Amino acid sequence: MKILDGKKISNDIKDEISKEVNEILKSSGKQPHLAAILVGNNGASQTYVNAKVKACERVGFKSTLIRLDENISQNILLNEIEKVNNNEDIDGLIVQLPLPKNFDESLVTNSILSSKDVDGFHPLNVGNMVLNLPTFISATPAGIIELISRYNIETSGKNCVVVGRSNIVGSPMSILMSRNTNPGNATVTLAHSRTTNLKELCLKADILIVALGKANFITADMVKDGACVIDVGISRVKSEITKSGWKLIGDVNFSEVSQKCSFITPVPGGVGPMTIAMLLKNTLLASKSKI
Ligand code: GUN
Repeated sequence: MKILDGKKISNDIKDEISKEVNEILKSSGKQPHLAAILVGNNGASQTYVNAKVKACERVGFKSTLIRLDENISQNILLNEIEKVNNNEDIDGLIVQLPLPKNFDESLVTNSILSSKDVDGFHPLNVGNMVLNLPTFISATPAGIIELISRYNIETSGKNCVVVGRSNIVGSPMSILMSRNTNPGNATVTLAHSRTTNLKELCLKADILIVALGKANFITADMVKDGACVIDVGISRVKSEITKSGWKLIGDVNFSEVSQKCSFITPVPGGVGPMTIAMLLKNTLLASKSKI
């Protein structure tokens, strides 16, 4: 069994981005610039946004973090988005999800200029992704594709089961794995909460991608010998071993499943760091398209 080391690969990608930023700075003086809007005090969202800001520093990007109170009206948020849309210095904008209740997430996402939508959530970018046209592909599925590619995992003609149909991960993942590209060309099944024969389907998967948000949900009896297992889940559970009293675990029961599979992503250190690296890559792309 081989670990798919997202931490290492994401560091390689960040090094590649840093080099390119230095070259761009020398030739045009333009520093890529990412803006992030965080509404409210969701602990996990704060952690993710801080990690994104830190990653910007690491690769030489400018970053702007806009924090808004959770009690603001939706119009105030839409005004902030409009300001960033009109700010020529800012190349990419993300609004961290989930938003507090009372916000219309799809209206908010659709208000971001598609050319600055480095999360790839805007309908225009989702549509381009489905049609295999140049676009911003959302960072988590793009990170998984990059990980599969850099470890030379064969996907063509393989059975791929994606568990979870979210707009951010499961749904785009199923499209990327089925399209005529490499990685891709897999026969894809998208399983979800109404799927009745999940274990049977998972047992047929050469590549199993799990994005469900249920800690330790996938057990060894659900996994084919030699499968490649990608775990997108991150749940915070109590721990008596760690200093903080908490630990992060994925949707896959790692200790069991790792005995059976050929490749597996750890949690933490698998898909998570890849997501941030791909967000940076999209921001660089946004910045370059203006140079
Ligand atoms: N919440 C969970 N994942 C993401 C992501 O990739 N982007 C944004 N904006 N919010 C998220």
